[in-house]
Amino acid sequence: MLQVSHLTRTFTSGTEEVQAVNDMDFSVERGEFVSIIGKSGSGKSTLLSMLGALDKPTGGTIKVDGEDIASMSDAKLIRYRCHKIGFVFQSYNLIPNLTAIENVMLPMEFAGRDKEAREKRATELLEQVGIEPDQMERKPGKLSGGQQQRVSIARALANKPSVILADEPTGNLDEQTGKMVFDLLHTLAKQEKTTIIVVTHDLDIAGKTDRTFRLNDGKIREVKK
Ligand SMILES: Nc1ncnc2c1ncn2[C@@H]1O[C@H](COP(=O)(O)OP(=O)(O)OP(=O)(O)O)[C@@H](O)[C@H]1O
Ligand SMILES: [Mg+2]
Repeated sequence: MLQVSHLTRTFTSGTEEVQAVNDMDFSVERGEFVSIIGKSGSGKSTLLSMLGALDKPTGGTIKVDGEDIASMSDAKLIRYRCHKIGFVFQSYNLIPNLTAIENVMLPMEFAGRDKEAREKRATELLEQVGIEPDQMERKPGKLSGGQQQRVSIARALANKPSVILADEPTGNLDEQTGKMVFDLLHTLAKQEKTTIIVVTHDLDIAGKTDRTFRLNDGKIREVKK
């Protein structure tokens, strides 16, 4: 479902050029749970941003269900980000002045769904990730880190994306909470056939995914298990 070929992203600052992503080739099947490891500065976040159409490649193609996102019009890209991609960040990125349930309803509002349908699906998703009814009405500041991350996973799932991109989703959580969030992503990949690509520094976590890629200076290599 995801085919990346000759993908390149070059940053120029002053006279210096950084090949953050350098001629990468790989593909991922539907429902696969994939981890990406690599040291700081190896290009992990740059790659994820391009897969999620938050940044444009300087070369190569990213085909999602056969369509190259690098050559999509802006209007199409907005639809792609809204319907096909769910993002989960290390720092949760919930909107502070909206309650948990309002945060989960928001992407569905962008997708044009009516209020009743939004409320129903947001409640179901929050139940699925283990958020209690009284917690659903709280703003993120009144939830723990693990609870906020579970809300952000529910938000990422709101529009039934085909891919979830997670950049160090357990980076700010203690070991036990991190494991819970990871298990949740794993279950989703298998039950809903959502493709999940997770960046992690935790080799234990990486070892439990279907496949692992290691990035090194903008190059990608699959780690054989
Ligand atoms: N906007 C930018 N302008 C210039 N250089 C950039 C930009 N964004 C990233 N880079 C450079 O590209 C390289 C890859 O950065 P990236 O953020 O993808 O690394 P990373 O693997 O996510 O690292 P970390 O584990 O620290 O999050 C780094 O050398 C970084 O300095
Ligand atoms: Mg990063």
